[in-house]
Parts: sequence; structure tokens; C-alpha cells
Amino acid sequence: MEIAVERLPEEKLKPLYNDPAQLGFGKIFTDYMFTMKHQDGKGWVEPKISPYSSFSIDPAAVVLHYSQEIFEGLKAYAAKDGRILLFRPEQNAKRMYRSAERLCMEPFPEEYFLKAVETLVNLEKRWIPRAPETSLYIRPTLVGLGAALGVHPASEYLFYIILSPVAAYYKEGFKPVKLAVEDYYVRSVIGGVGDAKTGGNYAASLMAGAKAEEKGFSQVLWLDAKEKKYVEEVGSMNMFFVFGKKLVTPNLGGSILPGITRASVLELAKSLGYQTEERQISIDEVVKGLDDGTLTEAFGSGTAAVISPVGSLYYQGKDYLVNNNQVGKVTQELYTKLVDIQFGNAKDPFGWSWDIGKF
Ligand code: COI
Repeated sequence: MEIAVERLPEEKLKPLYNDPAQLGFGKIFTDYMFTMKHQDGKGWVEPKISPYSSFSIDPAAVVLHYSQEIFEGLKAYAAKDGRILLFRPEQNAKRMYRSAERLCMEPFPEEYFLKAVETLVNLEKRWIPRAPETSLYIRPTLVGLGAALGVHPASEYLFYIILSPVAAYYKEGFKPVKLAVEDYYVRSVIGGVGDAKTGGNYAASLMAGAKAEEKGFSQVLWLDAKEKKYVEEVGSMNMFFVFGKKLVTPNLGGSILPGITRASVLELAKSLGYQTEERQISIDEVVKGLDDGTLTEAFGSGTAAVISPVGSLYYQGKDYLVNNNQVGKVTQELYTKLVDIQFGNAKDPFGWSWDIGKF
């Protein structure tokens, strides 16, 4: 794949932001984006890096009517020694391929995904923020474009990547977040698209999320759709419950996202001597553990959320404090170890970190 690059004159480049308070999450976008199209009979064509700009698409495009859309999220980190690092990007490329298959889309080849990410991030390296806990968020996206109102897979696809310098996902930063357990609305069902990274899952979560936010919660914790009994995920993160030296996370039963941070936390925790269990965990087991003190900590994991401590869970009219609303030792340990690998501050015995360039 030969990527054409259309450069902007120096004076047209945007001013940089580095202050975490200004960054927030996903509000600022860099100067360039990557695009590539898929057309019937031609395959993937026109790989291009061009100035970040709006698209013009047909009002009958399949994505606008039938939500044929998938995306990924990964980050580029500025290591102190000047290296530019990615965290397990091949896993994002693979997951995007699987999401495309599930949504009946033309999958984007993994080697193109990796080359496009590396080339764009290197071109935009001045945008990788340096303040602690900030990074350059990478958002690869695939949409179905062909103009047609019949419910069929699109005839044309657009793959693109945009970049956004970011700080913490939650306004709380690395402080415990308040979750509300949702026992009416559901995010997804087994056999649905809950394990694909498609926008529809996030759209389906908005109403419950907005109602929870109105009441002062950061997010909702989803339960399974069938029995409203088992914990699923938070939408922006997978969940972990800590019982002393044991970590329990809901198993990937088909309705939750197979998080890359989730998989990494499981491996990291095992290497640190924790016992890990991927299994169904009921909300009753969680509240019982909080009541009798055996559930000692809870946290979420995700690319955007990293590792986010959970300080309280609201369920059926009652607020349950988790570790007295403090960041627990296990959460802190896993967070520090993970972030140290991501930022290149510690040895990476897992081979997760990809060194893709220098400043
Ligand atoms: C990510 O963690 O990359 C996601 O896509 C979650 C999204 C809510 C920001």
C-alpha cells in the first residue's frame, strides 16, 4: 500500500494543546486524517493522508440509515526517552476485522490498518501530548457508503482514521467513579452485536447513560438482557471485581466487548500472582460481597478509561460503597504496571508495546 500524502502549508497547521484540562477527551482533532475506499470490483483503493476535513456523503448512504459502522480505539504514547509507542495495535486490527465480518462489511486488511496507523501517527507526532497520563487517541472507523435504501450490505466502504490528543476519559481522572446498575434498559443480547465494536451499541446506551448522569452517576453498569441478573460491562469499559487476591471479570459470552485492556489486565494480574476468573458474576454476588466486605475493590478497564476505580454502585434504591470510595491497592498496582508498560517506563515482558518511531 502506497499512501499519498497531501500536506498543509506550515501556517495552516492548528495550534497545539498540551494542558490536560484543555484536552479533555475527544474534543480536539489533529491536522490530518487517513482515508481509503473500497469499491465493488476494485477492492481497497486510494490510501491517502489529507488535511482533516468534513466528508460529503450521499444522504442515502447505508451508514446513515442502517448503521453499518464499526470503529476502534487505541493510543499512541510519548515515552520519556523519545520513542513513540503503540499498545497492542495488532489486537485492534484483528478486532476491527471481526467486527466488520459481524456487521457484514468489507473487512479492512490488518496489514493496511497497521501501516495506516503508524504512518499517520508518525506524521502527526507533534500532537502526541507529553503531560502525564495524556496520549494521542487513534480512532479508526469503517462505514458503509453506497446509496441504497434496501436493507442490504453497502456496495462501497470508507475506512478512515482520525486522531485526538486526550487526557482522562472521565472528568474524575484516576479517582473512583460512581456507577448505577441498570435494571431496565439493556445494552445487548447474546446473538446480537454486543461483542462487535459498532456505534449502535453506544447509541443504545445513551438514554440510560443520560438518565444516570442526571442523577450524578458517571455511567451505568449493564446487566444481561435475559435475566437482568449477571453483570456485563459499562459500555466504555469492561468490569473487574476484586475479592482479596482474586480478580473476577464477566466472561465473554457474546454480548460484551472483548476488551484489549481487559485481556491485558488478566495477563498482567496473573503475572503478579493474582488468581483470575472469567465467569458469570451476578449482581447479587457483587452486592453481597460489598455488604460482607469480601469484595474489596472494583474497577473498569478500557483504552479510553485505562483502569478506572469504581467508588460506588447504586442498585435498586441503595448505594453500595466500594473500598470506602477510595482507590484500592490492587487497582493502583495494576494501573501503575499497565501505564508504565504503555508509556515505556517499565520493561514489557509481554511484547505489547510497539516502538513505531522517534520524536
Ligand atoms: C475506547 O476505550 O477506545 C472506546 O472506544 C470507548 C469509548 C467510550 C471512548
